[in-house]
Amino acid sequence: MVTKWSPDSWHKFPAEQQPEWPSDNEVDSVLTEISKLPPLVFAGEARTLQEQLGSVCDGNALLLQAGDCAESFDGLTADAIRDNLKVILQMAVALTYSTGLPVVKVGRIAGQFAKPRSSPTETKDNVELPSFRGHIVNGPDFNAGSRTANPQRLLQAYHQSSSTLNLLRAFTRGGFANLAQVHAWNQEFVANSPAGEQYREIADGITDALAFMKACGVASHDNSALNEVDFYTSHEALLLGYEEALTRTDSTSGEWYDCSAHMLWIGERTRQIDSAHIEFLRGVQNPLGCKVGPSATPQEVVELCEKLNPAAIPGRLTLITRFGADNVESCLSPIVEAIVKSGHPVVWACDPMHGNTFTSSTGHKTRHLDDILTELTQFFSIHRSLGTWAGGIHIELTGGNVTECLGGADMLSDDDLHLRYETMCDPRLNASQSLELAFLVAEQLRRD
Ligand code: PEP
Ligand code: CO
Repeated sequence: MVTKWSPDSWHKFPAEQQPEWPSDNEVDSVLTEISKLPPLVFAGEARTLQEQLGSVCDGNALLLQAGDCAESFDGLTADAIRDNLKVILQMAVALTYSTGLPVVKVGRIAGQFAKPRSSPTETKDNVELPSFRGHIVNGPDFNAGSRTANPQRLLQAYHQSSSTLNLLRAFTRGGFANLAQVHAWNQEFVANSPAGEQYREIADGITDALAFMKACGVASHDNSALNEVDFYTSHEALLLGYEEALTRTDSTSGEWYDCSAHMLWIGERTRQIDSAHIEFLRGVQNPLGCKVGPSATPQEVVELCEKLNPAAIPGRLTLITRFGADNVESCLSPIVEAIVKSGHPVVWACDPMHGNTFTSSTGHKTRHLDDILTELTQFFSIHRSLGTWAGGIHIELTGGNVTECLGGADMLSDDDLHLRYETMCDPRLNASQSLELAFLVAEQLRRD
């Protein structure tokens, strides 16, 4: 039996991964304050994204979902936002140029703060403290003050999301994303890598094509398809109180939208069919993602589709598989076959990051680009053999020149990791590793 949904109906279901706030009163008053603040995104934008994801579902477009593992309150600079956008635009250009398909661009940005943890506490030298759950909850430093959940951080996360989104809107509409700028997105440290050189050839081709079009009377500055991009925001909908506070009725359709981001996803640790997270997300009309890891059974995934997308709307649900290079071969096919049999339309996306994390000999949490590329290659080849469209990739990256993941053209090794290891949570691909990945994906897709 399907029970009646409301923005607070999730309270009757078990909610995993919620922080222990020191006082209910304070968190309640902060959430009431947030519920009166303006929405961060508009319902109409989420609907447009869902339509575009519908084309990914139908095999006529690609999805690139990418950004930070966890955004930081200390990392809010215009340069950091611009550099992240640059690499995503570069990847999209590489994909579109090679495949002839539009790329739907969705950032893990402007709200990607809350982190699920495998253990609620962390122990060091016999001291046990709450785990770090992302800047929206507490601080990473290992002392009781920093690790105590602080509800004021929810407000700070809202305001940081708002200013990040404001800048993203300016960058994507104000000329920076004009295709005529295609060379300017190639940052110096990327331009010198093999992927950067390959990119430059494409950028030269685009510049020539634009010059030709200009001569024919089509100038990029007065054509919005050439001088603007649609860029959407997304994050893991983990802290349900925060998401509820930003859930509003849309005045045009009368439907509920979670206006904290265009797209929300459900993490691997909170996707239990009777969980509060599934209850909350089934009722908002935003396009949704759901992570699917090695423990998911085909039957469970079919049930998730029934619950999250009962009307079977193409673009409503993206299944983001994250099995790891060693498991993808055995795990992916049974799930794809069950979904195909059920008739549910889904966007198939691969997160090749979260199943491939390990600790280096130097004690850094890392991932090897080779494992990431192996999982992606297998993902494409399995979908190809089953006749399904492998339309999406979901990546943790940064536009910076960090040394967090191993391998790539610079052949980063364990001993290099300490050089610029800046992540607050999981290791991210740097800009040249990301571009290398985009070219590999483009090559795989050209085979289709
Ligand atoms: C994430 O995307 O940062 C994450 C925690 O992923 P997962 O839920 O797949 O482990
Ligand atoms: Co992560």
